[in-house]
Formats: sequence, C-alpha cells, structure tokens
Amino acid sequence: MVRYFLLLLTLVTVLVISIAGLRDYSFLPHKTKRPPIEIFPDMVRQAKVKAQAPSDFYADGRGARDPVSGTVPIGYAQPLNKPQSNDSSQGATMGSPYQVVVFEGRENYANTGKTGTNWGNGLPFTATLATLERGRERYQIQCAVCHGATGVGNGIATKYGLVGVASFNQQRIRDMTDGEIYNTIVNGKNTMLGYGSTIQIPDRWAIVAYIRALQRSQNASLNDVPEADRALLGESGMATTPAKP
Ligand code: HEC
Repeated sequence: MVRYFLLLLTLVTVLVISIAGLRDYSFLPHKTKRPPIEIFPDMVRQAKVKAQAPSDFYADGRGARDPVSGTVPIGYAQPLNKPQSNDSSQGATMGSPYQVVVFEGRENYANTGKTGTNWGNGLPFTATLATLERGRERYQIQCAVCHGATGVGNGIATKYGLVGVASFNQQRIRDMTDGEIYNTIVNGKNTMLGYGSTIQIPDRWAIVAYIRALQRSQNASLNDVPEADRALLGESGMATTPAKP
C-alpha cells in the first residue's frame, strides 16, 4: 500500500515540476518562449513601467516622471519651514535650533560634508556647549560600543572579537577634515557600516564636534592649559587636587 502511495507521489511530483516548475523548457528539442505555468506567481512579470522606458500612458511618452516639487532626496534634510531661534538648549533634533537644515540647491555642505568636490572643514553652524553635550550623548549611544568612550578604539565590541576599529587618536584621523568624518558617519568606511539612516544631520555634526574634543583631550599639551591653572599640574603633568585655601 505504502509502496503504491510513494510511487504515485513521485509521479505526481515529477509531473507538477515538469509542467510548472521550470522556467523555460530549454532542455527540450523545441524550445518555447512561453512562461511556465506558475502556481504561485512571484512578481517578476507584472504590469509596470521599467526605468528609463517609454510609456504611452503619459502625454509626453516618457515613463520616467519628474519628482514632485518639494521632494527631498534620500540622505538630505527636510527643509525648515521658518527660521529657527538660536537657542540651542533644546538639543539637536530635526527642526532644531541649528541652522543646518536649510535646503538650498542640491549639494550643500551641511548635507554632504563637501564644498564643491572637496571635503570641507568646520561645522555648518555655531557650536556651543550644548552642541558638544549633544554630541557626547549621541557618540556614547552610537559610536562608543566600538570606538570606546575616549575614541581610542577600545569599545566593548572589541572585547567580543571585533577587530580593526580605528582610533581617533591616529595622526591620519586627526588630520582628516570635518566633512570626511561627517561622511564616514553617513556612509561608513571599509568594515564600518554607515549610520546615516539612524543619525540626523545636526546630530552627525554634533558628533563630529565631540570627536574633535576627544582628539584634543587625548593629545593635549601644556599650551592647552590656561596659564593660571598650570601651577596645579604636578611633576607628572597630571592635575593635582588644588590645595584648600
Ligand atoms: C560596529 C562598530 C562601529 C561603530 C558602532 C562605529 N564604528 Fe567607526 N569604525 C569602525 C571600524 C571597524 C573602523 C575601521 C574601518 C576600516 O578602516 O576598516 C571604523 C572607522 C572609523 C573612522 C575612521 C575612518 C577612516 O577613514 O579611517 C571614523 C572617523 C569613525 N569610524 C567614526 C565613527 C563614528 C563617528 C561612529 C558613530 C556614529 C562610529 N564610527 C561608529 C567600527 C565602528
């Protein structure tokens, strides 16, 4: 009984596959161009306009349409509706105090980190203490797992086998322009993935500012200490607790 059942099953399977399963019957002597019978049609064949193909649906005969006016390209910020106040105490959310999200033309520094075809330098807004605090917060959420709290590349992920995390303390990265670091945040670099989809534009710049602060903190010289405070530095160059008055 079971034997007949198995035989039948095999026959039916072969029959179904040979009728429906093979794309074109190219192994047969007389090929057919007809599509195979699809029991579960996927979306390969459907009524659609192919990219750059003509279409008689539209009066001008073109399938491709212009973007609706006001369309914002992927990776660019929403335009601001009205000028924002310069009060930066509310953090760097979209539509935030920073003046970076004015959408003028297609390419601009705040969006791409480039001026013309070169990486640019400087933040596209005036950095305040709030910018750095926001940058630190975002950095600790998004970057510290790999790059470490001080940016030397010793984040917790490296303890679990991630290798090759860059230290911001290398001269090469110190010499990097702000625009290039911005671009690394957006698009990633080699083994580092991009974070453009999760970090909004003002926050990317705030992180760049914070990385600059980290770099400075790891590479400070006596000249970075205000002259009045240098007496507080001990022999070792480390700050000692100020003597009680
Ligand atoms: C999942 C781990 C990971 C996270 C999270 C991460 N990075 Fe990286 N990053 C790397 C690795 C790995 C490299 C080295 C890539 C290479 O050159 O192979 C790197 C390299 C870099 C570099 C140097 C790029 C260069 O040109 O050499 C910069 C700058 C940088 N990261 C910034 C950031 C910032 C800012 C964040 C947070 C928004 C961040 N990274 C988040 C893993 C990470």
